[in-house]
Amino acid sequence: MKFRRQFFLIIFLFITFNGFTVHAQQSSRVTSASGQDSATMNKFLSDLLGRMTLEEKIGQLNLLTGEQAITGSSVNKDAEGKILKGQVGGFLNIITVAKIRKAQEIAVTKTRLKIPLIFGLDVIHGYKTIFPIPLALSATWDPKLIEKTARIAAQEATADGINWTFSPMVDISRDPRWGRVAEGSGEDPYLGAEIAKAMVKGYQGDDLSKENTLLACVKHFALYGASESGRDYNTVDMGRSRMYNEYFLPYKAAIDAGAASVMASFNEVDGIPATANKWLLTDVLRKEWGFSGMLVTDYTGINEMIDHGLGGLQEVSAKALNAGIDMDMVGEGFITTLTNSLEEKKVSEKDIDRACRMVLEAKYKLGLFEDPYRYCNEQRAEKEIFTADHRAFARKVAGKSVVLLKNEKQTLPLKKSGTIALIGPLADSKANMVGTWSVSANLNTAVSLKEGLEQVGGSKVRILLAKGSNLMQDSAQQTRGTMFGRTIPRDDRNENEMIKEAVAVAMKADVIVAALGEASEMSGESASRTDINVPQVQQRLLEALLKTAKPLVLVLFNGRPLDLSWENEHVPSILNAWFGGTESGLAIADVLFGDVNPGGKITASFPRNVGQIPVYYNHKNTGRPQNDKHGFTKYRSNYLDASNEPLFPFGYGLSYTTFGITAPMVDKKVLSPGGTIKVKVDVKNTGTRLGEEVVQLYIRDMAGSITRPVKELKKFTKIALMPGESREISFTITEEDIKFYNADLAYVAEPGDFKIYVGNSAEQVKEVDFSYLKN
Ligand code: NOJ
Repeated sequence: MKFRRQFFLIIFLFITFNGFTVHAQQSSRVTSASGQDSATMNKFLSDLLGRMTLEEKIGQLNLLTGEQAITGSSVNKDAEGKILKGQVGGFLNIITVAKIRKAQEIAVTKTRLKIPLIFGLDVIHGYKTIFPIPLALSATWDPKLIEKTARIAAQEATADGINWTFSPMVDISRDPRWGRVAEGSGEDPYLGAEIAKAMVKGYQGDDLSKENTLLACVKHFALYGASESGRDYNTVDMGRSRMYNEYFLPYKAAIDAGAASVMASFNEVDGIPATANKWLLTDVLRKEWGFSGMLVTDYTGINEMIDHGLGGLQEVSAKALNAGIDMDMVGEGFITTLTNSLEEKKVSEKDIDRACRMVLEAKYKLGLFEDPYRYCNEQRAEKEIFTADHRAFARKVAGKSVVLLKNEKQTLPLKKSGTIALIGPLADSKANMVGTWSVSANLNTAVSLKEGLEQVGGSKVRILLAKGSNLMQDSAQQTRGTMFGRTIPRDDRNENEMIKEAVAVAMKADVIVAALGEASEMSGESASRTDINVPQVQQRLLEALLKTAKPLVLVLFNGRPLDLSWENEHVPSILNAWFGGTESGLAIADVLFGDVNPGGKITASFPRNVGQIPVYYNHKNTGRPQNDKHGFTKYRSNYLDASNEPLFPFGYGLSYTTFGITAPMVDKKVLSPGGTIKVKVDVKNTGTRLGEEVVQLYIRDMAGSITRPVKELKKFTKIALMPGESREISFTITEEDIKFYNADLAYVAEPGDFKIYVGNSAEQVKEVDFSYLKN
């Protein structure tokens, strides 16, 4: 081992001092494109570009996949041969120091210019220590906490050779049919933006060249979460007002926070796929927002434009480059066509240089020219991954992400004595605790709910286990939902027999914990559903269990808001556990036994049925708003058969304690340009346990030059209070909080009347008015 390292050092020194090869960067401490350091960087990059052939430049734009997490039909062949020919800029999906080092070694010892490779991976909610899925993380309403999860993910991934993560995904979505709601922060632009910033900071830190920071990649730019009918990869159609006022906010926030790379989305934006959309990628992203980092396609995003109907491979590749794309993920459209396109003047060398420079600059910022093995440190890999500290933190975070949706008759918390019947297809699954996009996880290390209950419950708790039902009635559907090693073995027994056995087990217990819902891969990429109920076969099990009249807690595993109308009507206690990551079983048990008081709040509305979708709190009023929230009035904008309101609104979540929030008071009624208004409420823990509450402030613009939403989240704070304790919370409102993009897309604050709402969900609020006057 020691010999190998010395050997590489000698090779590396040889490379750096060899006449025509790349010289190591003078200073790797480049974190921004300003000042002395960026002058050094620019000189280095210009010198290097000046020495590159056209083929070498195009080679840098080629991002190939290894075999760890294939998410499309193409896989690259002869990777090694391509590296040798200088035809590769980097890889995604290669895992472990040994494999990464091997690829890097070829690039930096056997190619003409010895340019190091960059190594990307979908480190979405943790590397080996897996945190809750992003939708669950957002339910903590705690950007600092989320930042730390990203920090730990970066620490672990960089210890194992990775220097670029395809995260954060900041796509706003209002459609729970879309499986990728699991990967984002829900429906709200403001909360989404706060979380986007936190994650970029967590990944990139303040110095990208440090060995434990990596490049963030904001995705999927743009509007990917607004696909028609919630079907993945489907068409998006949206006006610019909505783009600027709602969907763009989190992307922009991430760019403002310094995100070093962006991924174009698969979908079209205003008729042109994002990957070839010059308005989106160059006019908005680069010119308006000042993004100066690397722009990569999604997996085969260029080639997919052939199916979008934009032309053949050469044509779509040229379009992508001209639109502003720098790196081509997996599809090899650039490498195979750009030379011809240049000859035919369909692209310019200037654009190829621009793209190449962006790729080289990312590598420079990571410090790879100084030390291509900076992220290949076996000792770090041994010491810094899946540590006890990381796991303890993951358990804490998972506990905070759990949302208590209902708790009648004080069914929860459970006592740490007696017999629990733990029933359901998800009761004892390790692999399904982690959720989608945990490609680097070791699934066996996850703690199942059964293990969690046993450990946290202690010796006086007896657990009786029964599966009770298959995950899905339809075996093909079950297979699709349990891919990538997340299997739940199918039981050949007859459904009634399984239920009978479960009921018999339940009858021996004091309380039933039903572990039901979705498997990990029923949400995430390419996992859209038209039916977002708890699968029927599981619901029939639940019905039978309820008939026992034993106290029952439904622990729900889900990567999306589900339609829980039936469950809400019949089940006394519902704990929404999402997919909490490797420590999930322990974290859920902490909450079930009351060691942790749940404080999570949903960030995407839970609909009453799929027919309501999209249903979201920050909707427009329309010209015929409903008269009665839950009733029907003819000729108003409402339904004959259901309320307009979701079953559980944005920002909702219960606790084992209760909170009272007073009506908001303002220190003045008029906001002037450059001025502020202070909004105060008193929050009191009116129950008997220590608990956390998220105090949410929304604003409504009563009349504008364009229609404005009925409510928009503008501030929030999370506080912990002891029983009986109260605290004054104050928020400061400025002009910034009432600004929006008008019909000309100018960002303005318009004089007029406003309402402030404060409460603990988008629905449970009290209000106060103010005006904004210019003189
Ligand atoms: C496709 C997904 O859309 C994207 O989110 C992911 O980062 C890439 N594949 C790479 O795996």
